[in-house]
Amino acid sequence: MTQFRAIRGMVDILPDATPLWQQIEAAVRRALSGYGYTEVRLPLIEATEVFARSIGEVTDIVEKEMYSFPDRNGDSLTLRPEGTAGCVRAAVQHSLLGTPQRLWYAGPMFRYERPQKGRQRQFHQVGVEAFGVAGPEQDAELILICQRLWQALGVTPLLNLEINSIGSPAARQRYREALVTYLQARRDALDEDSKRRLDSNPLRILDSKNPEVQALLDGAPRLADFLDDDSREHWEALLALLDAAGVSYRHNDRLVRGLDYYNRTVFEWTTEALGAQGTVCGGGRYDGLVAQFGGSDTPAAGFAIGMERLVLLYESLNPSAAAAADIYVVTVDADAYGYALPRIEALRAQFPGLTIVMHLGGGSFKSQFKRADRSGARLALVYGVDEVATDQVTVKPLRDGGEQSTIAGLALADTLRRFEWAQVEE
Ligand code: HAM
Repeated sequence: MTQFRAIRGMVDILPDATPLWQQIEAAVRRALSGYGYTEVRLPLIEATEVFARSIGEVTDIVEKEMYSFPDRNGDSLTLRPEGTAGCVRAAVQHSLLGTPQRLWYAGPMFRYERPQKGRQRQFHQVGVEAFGVAGPEQDAELILICQRLWQALGVTPLLNLEINSIGSPAARQRYREALVTYLQARRDALDEDSKRRLDSNPLRILDSKNPEVQALLDGAPRLADFLDDDSREHWEALLALLDAAGVSYRHNDRLVRGLDYYNRTVFEWTTEALGAQGTVCGGGRYDGLVAQFGGSDTPAAGFAIGMERLVLLYESLNPSAAAAADIYVVTVDADAYGYALPRIEALRAQFPGLTIVMHLGGGSFKSQFKRADRSGARLALVYGVDEVATDQVTVKPLRDGGEQSTIAGLALADTLRRFEWAQVEE
């Protein structure tokens, strides 16, 4: 028989991992709603042009990473490689942009990249997009949301903020010419990848991981010297806000990001804890994109978090965050099970936040207690022959020590209330 396997780079998220994901997702929702952002749910597939035009024809994503295919009617469609383009498309289509909008989305994205730790072909992002505010206070707010989320998850010490201004498109064009002139004169010292980029997307050479290329760039013209006055003012005001809010950052004047739609502020949160795929979150301002999609001129800025990378970081600090039951119910036989069932259902109604697992499938007490131990439950509730005959239940602590006690069934709820149960996340 053929055994099917998931497609390379498409990863199953299994029960031992989903509790971590859910904890992070709950923290994300709390952080975002705390700043007044509202969720939008958008299609996974858009017309190919939506991505090609906004992300840029000569970017890695559009040139070689998109899952594009003809629809049955011949239209070219693409599985979304990122969320900003679809979000802008939706905001323009539904006329959401008359007043400032604070939006977020979460879900799978698709890029045909070489899979490795922290890099998949189907991966997940939480993205945040804010429309309608041109000033640096919007950029600062986005960065503060990230910082608050890192704090809530306890990963702040593992993350660094790198930030840059890439100015206006015109300033970038002037810089591009100066950079190309400088690098053309030293073309022989460039690696193949950089040579190719020199003609197509020279600013991406600034991102090169090759130390020789980086050394060559030490003498190159600097983007910061080409900024237009408005962008410089915006940049300085943003840094002042970050300083006022106590955010630490590093100005990385070679940070340009891999998507074409950005202007002015770009930023990334990076970590050294994950090896090569160290960018956990990236974003920036994209003031021209809404107009490019046929909307009226609307400033915008946003970011996206790579969830797999954030999960890896969180997991490195919380190795045992797996789901644990609170209570495991053990019954001696089918009669005891039938006796316990309505009582446990009543308990569920009284304690909706608790995870109560009833043992199913029978078996000896010994094997049931083994399962109870493995469930991580704090307590076992035991319904044996005597308990059933006398309307009692045995409460047996499984983890924190303590004596087991047999109590009247009617006293169970009061007994359970005396335990301090972990705060249940919504
Ligand atoms: P991006 O930098 O292409 O930006 O992706 C954001 C994050 O998604 C990355 O920093 C990384 O954590 C994660 N990521 C990207 N590719 C992969 C992959 N193959 N496997 C695992 N994780 C990955 C954007 O997508 C922009 N739309 C962000 C944005 C929103 N800018 C403004 N608004």
